[in-house]
Amino acid sequence: MSEKKQDTTHFGYQEVPVDEKVKRVADVFHSVAGKYDLMNDMMSGGIHRLWKRITIEQSGARAGMKVLDIAGGTGDLTRKFSRIVGPSGKVVLADINESMLRVGRDKLINAGAAGNIEYVQANAECLPFADNTFDILTIAFGLRNVTDKDAALRSMLRVLKPGGKVMVLEFSKTDNPLLTKAYDFYSFNILPQMGKLIANDAESYRYLAESIRMHPDQETLKEMMAGAGFVNCRYQNMTGGVVALHTGIKP
Ligand SMILES: C[S@@+](CC[C@H](N)C(=O)[O-])C[C@H]1O[C@@H](n2cnc3c(N)ncnc32)[C@H](O)[C@@H]1O
Repeated sequence: MSEKKQDTTHFGYQEVPVDEKVKRVADVFHSVAGKYDLMNDMMSGGIHRLWKRITIEQSGARAGMKVLDIAGGTGDLTRKFSRIVGPSGKVVLADINESMLRVGRDKLINAGAAGNIEYVQANAECLPFADNTFDILTIAFGLRNVTDKDAALRSMLRVLKPGGKVMVLEFSKTDNPLLTKAYDFYSFNILPQMGKLIANDAESYRYLAESIRMHPDQETLKEMMAGAGFVNCRYQNMTGGVVALHTGIKP
């Protein structure tokens, strides 16, 4: 009897069956959810707040707009968008992982965030929203965890309104050899140790470092976005390319 070979993909540096990647990514975020915000501040020295602020500034968000923050996790971008779009607008905080979504929802409610936020458990690859719904869609530090990135980009295009903007904030490739060396040392030696000390989880933070190295570089992601159907695709490096903000428009 012939056996169908299962499709594989990468989980960090490992080659794993597609289903296993989904489960292992879920395990990572179930494990880190409670300490996610603290670790973000510790790992980045708080710089992630600046990267997110720049994303908001470049979004063009205005009162009354509808925003989808997919892979929104603990809701940093959602919270900022919620203030800008105001009572006549709406922000959907969506994430595949119920632990991250719960931490995000509790945090935003405790912070008194506005009633214009909806919380939805959803996979970026098959978004459960009608065509042409959102003015702006953000995915911050989420795309590299998605198994089928092309499917996710097509799904994002579908739910955006014509003229709507997608913003992909993600770790990327540094172009300065010295910075790359220091960044590699930090990622593979210090980061897992911090993960162990603070979150009692070195493995998840090793995956973080590996998944960043496996993520498409700036030009490749730009081509993928154009391939999915976005126009005016461009990117801006931040912190020497440690992070890049890609944007595209739905025609
Ligand atoms: C590193 S966190 C980023 C959270 C938040 N956007 C931020 O910038 O702080 C990545 C998030 O992506 C979510 N995620 C992973 N795969 C996903 C998928 N296929 N669809 C939706 N969310 C996904 C994870 O559950 C996790 O909450």
